[in-house]
Amino acid sequence: MATTKLKKIAVLCSGGDAPGMNAAIRSVIRTAAYYNIESYGVMRGYTGLISGDIVKMGPRSVSNIIDKGGTIIKTARCPEFLEERYQKKAVNNLKKKDIDGLVVIGGNGSFKGAHILSSKWKVRTVGGPGTIDNDLQGTDFTVGADTAVNTALGAIDKIRDTATSLERIYIVEVMGRDSDFIPLRVALSGGAEDVLVHDTEHKIDQMCEDIKKGRRKGKISWIIVVAEGIAGGHEVGRLIREGTGFDTRVVVLGHIQRGGSPTAYDRMLASRLGAAAIEALIAGETDKMAGIKGDDTVLVPFTVAVKPGRKQEKLDREIYKIIRIMAT
Ligand code: ADP
Ligand code: F6P
Repeated sequence: MATTKLKKIAVLCSGGDAPGMNAAIRSVIRTAAYYNIESYGVMRGYTGLISGDIVKMGPRSVSNIIDKGGTIIKTARCPEFLEERYQKKAVNNLKKKDIDGLVVIGGNGSFKGAHILSSKWKVRTVGGPGTIDNDLQGTDFTVGADTAVNTALGAIDKIRDTATSLERIYIVEVMGRDSDFIPLRVALSGGAEDVLVHDTEHKIDQMCEDIKKGRRKGKISWIIVVAEGIAGGHEVGRLIREGTGFDTRVVVLGHIQRGGSPTAYDRMLASRLGAAAIEALIAGETDKMAGIKGDDTVLVPFTVAVKPGRKQEKLDREIYKIIRIMAT
């Protein structure tokens, strides 16, 4: 573990943006200032680290951003960063500016890169989880996930108005990559009649039977939430139309789920984890993500945070069961 006193830190955002990233940047910069540490912002994630697009920041450069979606220092996907020669360029750019601590705000892929920086190149690096997917291990929540659920929920509430009025079946595809976090929570809180997620045995044939049975009993409209990556909302819409003989409409919510003003929960989480990341760097920590477990902030090795596999499986199963019960 590094023990030298930290003088200068840099922060970058990487991968898909998530609401609350700005609040996290603000927290990192202001916490650094509080501890008399100079700070820099790396533009466009690992792309800016490679090109040396690193700008001086201070407490005033993060004024009035706590409520803003997106990220003021931009973010990017940077395939070059997988190659050693570009990693070397990135590390040299940090050295040129005497930056001795780095905060990476991002998701799974970003932390794989951050792990390489810490373990192979010995750059003192700590992460802040920023992704709407909530697919990182070792943290209950990632910054942006709560806002994304609420954004999708707002859309579903509106879809319900027209679904009920025209007595239609709506298929709503939500984001989340391989994670069921958004679809399950949106389906339960939005009162969806059904949900199609990665882990369910409940399949489209059964769904069609339920719809036909429901119609016979006088049920007039359906909202069915589909996790992206299952079959695609349009494909599910087609299968249900063919399987039931009823008209369907498909809404793919897409990138609207990544935008907008972060919820209070995400602002709180971002503020706590940004501060925790800087305090971890000061304590000499590296190769770890700051996360949240219950009431506590925790440090989780990057190698653990990026492990594939379901988290909150028990909770997900309970949510799924209640969605099915509520559709009675
Ligand atoms: P997210 O962090 O939101 O999961 P990505 O999976 O797109 O987003 O990853 C963001 C970036 O992290 C990639 O464009 C790349 O620069 C870097 N990255 C991803 N995987 C690796 C890896 N195995 N090694 C080094 N860098 C990686
Ligand atoms: O990881 C965040 C996320 O929004 C996923 O939910 C989604 O699958 C993906 O990014 C979309 O990526 P892109 O912005 O490249 O379309």
